Amino acid sequence: MGVSERPYVIDRMISAKAIAARIEALCGEIQSEFAGTDKLIVVGLLRGSFVFIADLVRELDLPIEVDFLEASSYGDGMESSREVRILKDLRGAIEGRDVLVVEDIVDTGYTMHHVIRLLQGRNPARLRTIALLDKPTRREVDVKADWTGFEIPDEFVVGYGIDFAQRNRNLPFIGKVRFT
Ligand code: IMP
Ligand code: MG
Repeated sequence: MGVSERPYVIDRMISAKAIAARIEALCGEIQSEFAGTDKLIVVGLLRGSFVFIADLVRELDLPIEVDFLEASSYGDGMESSREVRILKDLRGAIEGRDVLVVEDIVDTGYTMHHVIRLLQGRNPARLRTIALLDKPTRREVDVKADWTGFEIPDEFVVGYGIDFAQRNRNLPFIGKVRFT
Protein backbone atom coordinates (compact mmCIF):
# COMPACT_ATOMS: atom_id res chain seq x y z
CA MET A 1 0.00 0.00 0.00
CA GLY A 2 1.40 3.40 -1.01
CA VAL A 3 1.82 5.96 1.74
CA SER A 4 -0.99 8.09 0.33
CA GLU A 5 -3.48 5.21 0.65
CA ARG A 6 -2.95 4.70 4.36
CA PRO A 7 -5.85 6.05 6.45
CA TYR A 8 -5.12 9.28 8.29
CA VAL A 9 -6.73 12.04 10.29
CA ILE A 10 -5.88 15.74 10.25
CA ASP A 11 -5.05 17.50 13.52
CA ARG A 12 -5.61 21.24 13.50
CA MET A 13 -2.42 23.25 13.77
CA ILE A 14 -2.92 26.85 12.53
CA SER A 15 -6.40 28.37 12.34
CA ALA A 16 -7.76 30.40 9.42
CA LYS A 17 -7.98 33.37 11.78
CA ALA A 18 -4.32 33.10 12.79
CA ILE A 19 -3.30 32.87 9.13
CA ALA A 20 -5.33 35.98 8.23
CA ALA A 21 -3.79 37.97 11.09
CA ARG A 22 -0.29 36.93 10.10
CA ILE A 23 -0.88 37.87 6.46
CA GLU A 24 -2.05 41.32 7.49
CA ALA A 25 1.14 41.87 9.50
CA LEU A 26 3.38 40.54 6.72
CA CYS A 27 1.72 42.76 4.13
CA GLY A 28 2.58 45.82 6.22
CA GLU A 29 6.25 44.83 5.97
CA ILE A 30 6.04 44.00 2.27
CA GLN A 31 4.45 47.36 1.55
CA SER A 32 7.26 49.18 3.36
CA GLU A 33 9.85 47.19 1.41
CA PHE A 34 8.26 47.88 -1.97
CA ALA A 35 6.92 51.38 -1.28
CA GLY A 36 7.08 53.47 -4.44
CA THR A 37 7.36 50.50 -6.81
CA ASP A 38 5.77 51.15 -10.18
CA LYS A 39 4.80 47.50 -10.43
CA LEU A 40 5.39 44.45 -8.28
CA ILE A 41 5.19 41.06 -9.96
CA VAL A 42 3.85 38.56 -7.46
CA VAL A 43 4.91 35.07 -8.52
CA GLY A 44 3.01 32.15 -7.04
CA LEU A 45 4.62 28.72 -7.05
CA LEU A 46 1.99 26.26 -8.17
CA ARG A 47 0.09 24.59 -6.90
CA GLY A 48 0.50 24.84 -3.14
CA SER A 49 0.59 28.64 -2.92
CA PHE A 50 -2.68 29.36 -4.73
CA VAL A 51 -4.75 30.08 -1.60
CA PHE A 52 -1.96 31.99 0.12
CA ILE A 53 -1.28 34.22 -2.89
CA ALA A 54 -5.00 34.95 -3.26
CA ASP A 55 -5.23 36.19 0.33
CA LEU A 56 -1.87 37.93 0.17
CA VAL A 57 -2.55 40.07 -2.91
CA ARG A 58 -5.90 41.20 -1.54
CA GLU A 59 -4.08 42.62 1.51
CA LEU A 60 -1.41 44.35 -0.57
CA ASP A 61 -2.00 48.00 -1.32
CA LEU A 62 0.54 48.20 -4.16
CA PRO A 63 0.34 48.13 -7.97
CA ILE A 64 0.84 44.44 -8.75
CA GLU A 65 0.68 41.83 -11.46
CA VAL A 66 0.31 38.12 -10.76
CA ASP A 67 2.21 35.37 -12.53
CA PHE A 68 2.78 31.69 -11.79
CA LEU A 69 5.62 29.22 -11.97
CA GLU A 70 5.28 25.50 -11.48
CA ALA A 71 8.20 23.49 -10.18
CA SER A 72 8.19 19.69 -9.89
CA SER A 73 6.85 18.52 -6.59
CA TYR A 74 6.77 15.53 -4.28
CA GLY A 75 4.55 13.46 -6.53
CA ASP A 76 2.31 11.46 -4.24
CA GLY A 77 4.93 10.82 -1.60
CA MET A 78 6.02 12.67 1.51
CA GLU A 79 9.68 13.10 0.55
CA SER A 80 11.26 15.75 -1.64
CA SER A 81 12.73 14.52 -4.90
CA ARG A 82 15.62 16.97 -4.38
CA GLU A 83 15.75 17.44 -8.13
CA VAL A 84 13.78 20.50 -9.17
CA ARG A 85 12.39 20.84 -12.67
CA ILE A 86 10.34 23.72 -14.07
CA LEU A 87 7.02 22.38 -15.34
CA LYS A 88 5.49 25.74 -16.19
CA ASP A 89 7.45 28.94 -16.63
CA LEU A 90 6.35 32.54 -16.08
CA ARG A 91 4.28 34.15 -18.81
CA GLY A 92 5.93 37.53 -18.44
CA ALA A 93 9.46 38.93 -18.37
CA ILE A 94 10.83 40.13 -15.02
CA GLU A 95 13.97 41.98 -16.11
CA GLY A 96 14.23 45.28 -14.27
CA ARG A 97 11.05 44.57 -12.30
CA ASP A 98 10.33 44.06 -8.62
CA VAL A 99 9.44 40.46 -7.91
CA LEU A 100 7.95 38.71 -4.89
CA VAL A 101 8.05 34.90 -4.99
CA VAL A 102 5.29 33.27 -2.97
CA GLU A 103 5.83 29.71 -1.71
CA ASP A 104 3.72 27.52 0.53
CA ILE A 105 6.43 25.69 2.48
CA VAL A 106 10.20 25.77 2.60
CA ASP A 107 11.20 22.25 3.57
CA THR A 108 14.57 20.90 2.35
CA GLY A 109 15.02 24.23 0.56
CA TYR A 110 15.77 22.75 -2.86
CA THR A 111 12.73 24.28 -4.55
CA MET A 112 13.24 27.80 -3.21
CA HIS A 113 16.96 27.69 -3.92
CA HIS A 114 16.40 26.58 -7.51
CA VAL A 115 13.67 29.14 -8.20
CA ILE A 116 15.69 32.03 -6.75
CA ARG A 117 18.69 31.10 -8.88
CA LEU A 118 16.55 30.82 -12.00
CA LEU A 119 14.80 34.16 -11.49
CA GLN A 120 17.94 36.04 -10.38
CA GLY A 121 19.43 35.05 -13.73
CA ARG A 122 16.75 37.14 -15.42
CA ASN A 123 17.98 40.32 -13.71
CA PRO A 124 14.97 41.56 -11.77
CA ALA A 125 15.35 44.91 -9.99
CA ARG A 126 14.51 43.40 -6.60
CA LEU A 127 13.71 39.77 -5.86
CA ARG A 128 12.18 38.91 -2.51
CA THR A 129 10.57 35.74 -1.21
CA ILE A 130 7.78 34.86 1.17
CA ALA A 131 6.80 31.45 2.48
CA LEU A 132 3.70 30.74 4.51
CA LEU A 133 5.43 27.92 6.39
CA ASP A 134 9.02 27.03 7.17
CA LYS A 135 10.35 23.76 8.55
CA PRO A 136 13.87 24.88 9.55
CA THR A 137 14.90 21.51 11.01
CA ARG A 138 14.42 19.87 7.60
CA ARG A 139 16.78 22.17 5.71
CA GLU A 140 19.39 20.66 3.39
CA VAL A 141 20.13 23.75 1.29
CA ASP A 142 20.99 27.05 2.98
CA VAL A 143 18.05 29.23 2.00
CA LYS A 144 15.54 31.32 3.92
CA ALA A 145 12.55 33.30 2.72
CA ASP A 146 12.68 37.05 3.38
CA TRP A 147 9.32 36.70 5.13
CA THR A 148 7.87 33.63 6.80
CA GLY A 149 4.35 33.16 8.09
CA PHE A 150 4.99 30.43 10.63
CA GLU A 151 7.86 28.18 11.59
CA ILE A 152 6.60 24.68 12.17
CA PRO A 153 8.16 21.43 13.40
CA ASP A 154 8.92 18.47 11.15
CA GLU A 155 5.33 17.42 10.49
CA PHE A 156 3.55 16.74 7.21
CA VAL A 157 0.86 19.39 6.84
CA VAL A 158 -2.15 19.96 4.60
CA GLY A 159 -4.82 22.60 4.00
CA TYR A 160 -4.93 26.23 2.88
CA GLY A 161 -3.76 25.15 -0.58
CA ILE A 162 -1.32 22.49 0.61
CA ASP A 163 -1.95 18.87 -0.33
CA PHE A 164 -1.21 15.31 0.54
CA ALA A 165 -1.29 13.41 -2.78
CA GLN A 166 -3.53 16.21 -4.16
CA ARG A 167 -6.06 15.97 -1.32
CA ASN A 168 -7.08 18.42 1.41
CA ARG A 169 -6.07 21.62 -0.41
CA ASN A 170 -9.49 23.08 0.33
CA LEU A 171 -9.28 23.01 4.12
CA PRO A 172 -9.43 26.61 5.38
CA PHE A 173 -6.84 25.91 8.11
CA ILE A 174 -3.45 24.17 8.31
CA GLY A 175 -3.49 20.73 9.88
CA LYS A 176 -0.99 17.95 10.34
CA VAL A 177 -1.41 14.47 8.90
CA ARG A 178 -1.56 11.68 11.48
CA PHE A 179 -1.78 8.10 10.27
CA THR A 180 -4.28 5.97 12.14
P1 IMP B 1 11.55 21.59 -0.63
O1 IMP B 1 12.09 21.69 -2.01
O2 IMP B 1 11.96 20.31 0.06
O3 IMP B 1 11.83 22.80 0.24
O4 IMP B 1 10.02 21.40 -0.77
C1 IMP B 1 9.16 22.38 -0.93
C2 IMP B 1 7.84 21.86 -1.46
O5 IMP B 1 7.52 20.57 -0.94
C3 IMP B 1 6.74 22.78 -1.04
O6 IMP B 1 6.51 23.71 -2.03
C4 IMP B 1 5.58 21.83 -0.89
O7 IMP B 1 4.89 21.75 -2.12
C5 IMP B 1 6.16 20.50 -0.59
N1 IMP B 1 6.04 20.19 0.85
C6 IMP B 1 6.98 20.32 1.80
N2 IMP B 1 6.51 19.98 3.00
C7 IMP B 1 5.21 19.64 2.82
C8 IMP B 1 4.15 19.23 3.71
O8 IMP B 1 4.30 19.12 4.93
N3 IMP B 1 2.94 19.00 3.12
C9 IMP B 1 2.73 19.12 1.78
N4 IMP B 1 3.67 19.52 0.93
C10 IMP B 1 4.91 19.77 1.43
MG1 MG C 1 5.19 23.36 -3.61
